[in-house]
Amino acid sequence: MPGLEGRVAFITGAARGQGRAHAVRLAREGCDIIAVDICADIPTMTYPNASEADLAETVALVEKEDRRIVARKADVRDYAGLKAAFDEGLAEFGRVDIVIANAGIIRLGDEEDLLAEWQDVIDTNLTGVYHTIRAALPAMREAGRGGSIVITSSTAGIKSSPADQASGLAYMASKRGLVGLAQSLAGHLAKEWIRVNTIHPTGVMSGMTMNEAMAKQFEQAAASGDNMIAGMQNALPIEMLQPEDIANAVAFLVSDEAKFITGIAWPLDAGFTVR
Ligand SMILES: NC(=O)c1ccc[n+]([C@@H]2O[C@H](COP(=O)([O-])OP(=O)(O)OC[C@H]3O[C@@H](n4cnc5c(N)ncnc54)[C@H](O)[C@@H]3O)[C@@H](O)[C@H]2O)c1
Repeated sequence: MPGLEGRVAFITGAARGQGRAHAVRLAREGCDIIAVDICADIPTMTYPNASEADLAETVALVEKEDRRIVARKADVRDYAGLKAAFDEGLAEFGRVDIVIANAGIIRLGDEEDLLAEWQDVIDTNLTGVYHTIRAALPAMREAGRGGSIVITSSTAGIKSSPADQASGLAYMASKRGLVGLAQSLAGHLAKEWIRVNTIHPTGVMSGMTMNEAMAKQFEQAAASGDNMIAGMQNALPIEMLQPEDIANAVAFLVSDEAKFITGIAWPLDAGFTVR
């Protein structure tokens, strides 16, 4: 991909799944990486987050591509901690060209504590994305070289699925909210050649989906046809995407080949939203 050699990408949720795939793919294209991940569980979730060992594996994979990486344990909900982690990466590499605001969560399963479940999803998926962009944007603007910001939304950010539980509703609301955030920033930053886009993946094989809680959701959907994932199906005959499929699209989107693309909401969804 043209224009990626020597650039620096700041990626959240980089310990596994799509975040790791972005780190490895962009390293292969010649980028150095500032990676953060919470590496800890959030009590209202029903599946585990990534671990420190997962983040160490991302470090090893990036280094295997002969690129450098600064990887820190940080929670996107905590602006001060996130900014400190980003600043360490900035001090090491001296620049930031790409931001991939990817960290995100959902609770799979029945509602138990509606206020906490709503808040954790909103704080991570919406406020956390704002924190991520806000931490990196001043350095990107001051450098005057332009840049590319990619926000990981979901098909849920385009097409809502029936839901009545706090976490599922917060997921839909946060992922749709990201589109507004991206569009406002895209309009404002365009004159500085800073591009802002959202991506909207359908089901991807990652820690969020390949776990016991999701297996239970599939069983429940098959038995009763009545839960958040019942009725979710792609138009193309492919059940789930791989993290690398999303990373391939993002490598294009942050490259100079996509230099005219800003303010879009790009479905990476095997036709999910037109079905
Ligand atoms: N997997 C899917 O089917 C799917 C579909 C559409 C969109 N998405 C979105 O893609 C993004 C990446 O998810 P994934 O599929 O790779 O799942 P994943 O659970 O494997 O990866 C998410 C990563 O974010 C980290 N994380 C969670 N909370 C954090 C926090 N507060 N601070 C920092 N890091 C945190 C986790 O430890 C994990 O490493 C998410 O925003 C998710 O909502 C996923």
